[in-house]
Amino acid sequence: MTTVAIVVAAGSGTRMGADMPKALIPLAGRPLVAWSIWALNASDRVDGIVVVAPPGHERPMGMALGETAELLAMTTGGSSRGRSVAAGLGEVPEGADRILVHDAARPLLSPDHISMVLAGIEDADGAIIAAPAADTIKRTDDDLHIVETIDRSVHWLAQTPQAFRTESFARAIEVALEGDYIDTCTDCAAMVEAMGGAVRVVPSVLPNQKVTTPSDLEIVAQLLEARNLRA
Ligand code: C5P
Repeated sequence: MTTVAIVVAAGSGTRMGADMPKALIPLAGRPLVAWSIWALNASDRVDGIVVVAPPGHERPMGMALGETAELLAMTTGGSSRGRSVAAGLGEVPEGADRILVHDAARPLLSPDHISMVLAGIEDADGAIIAAPAADTIKRTDDDLHIVETIDRSVHWLAQTPQAFRTESFARAIEVALEGDYIDTCTDCAAMVEAMGGAVRVVPSVLPNQKVTTPSDLEIVAQLLEARNLRA
């Protein structure tokens, strides 16, 4: 079995309000993206890593990763997350039978997340780390009036890493590009689901917060520092 990881790091990070792409923002002593690369390198389940960089920031990205990673390839991202994933897939060598996709925006990735999600595809086309909905979920109309209270026990918040059998994944990307819905897919599982693939949830039991705003950065920095002290 050969597993290649694609790290999508090409977002602009507008909501961070920083003067650089989110993946390059310093976090607990390293660029944000380097934490995910560290976890992928530390996992004995990953055979190669492809990084997708923000357009125009390939050089600083290469420098940021220089000391931390033996990359298979770095490529330039697209105008949506789905297109960035497709660009990453284009760099995956023949023969990889499993693909692991991870958002650089989740720097708390650990080798345990990777093992858990890969175990989930033994009987499925794909598996995703996801958190159970802890809050009550409301559906609203355009005026924010509640139209429905949804049964939270069957709702999950999708995270990354997400793992797929390469054949199903490549086909799902191709169909999403042809069908012109790749830009609206906010995760990879959605593309595999859209073509009828079986994707299962692996409940998230480890910290895996996404960095979206400056306050997320502070919280995640504290978690990383606490983790390093324990190590
Ligand atoms: O936008 P969002 O926070 O959902 O992005 C999730 C991940 O996808 C981030 O790691 C971001 O860098 C990446 N992304 C990308 N290319 C884009 C948009 C987002 O690689 N065009």
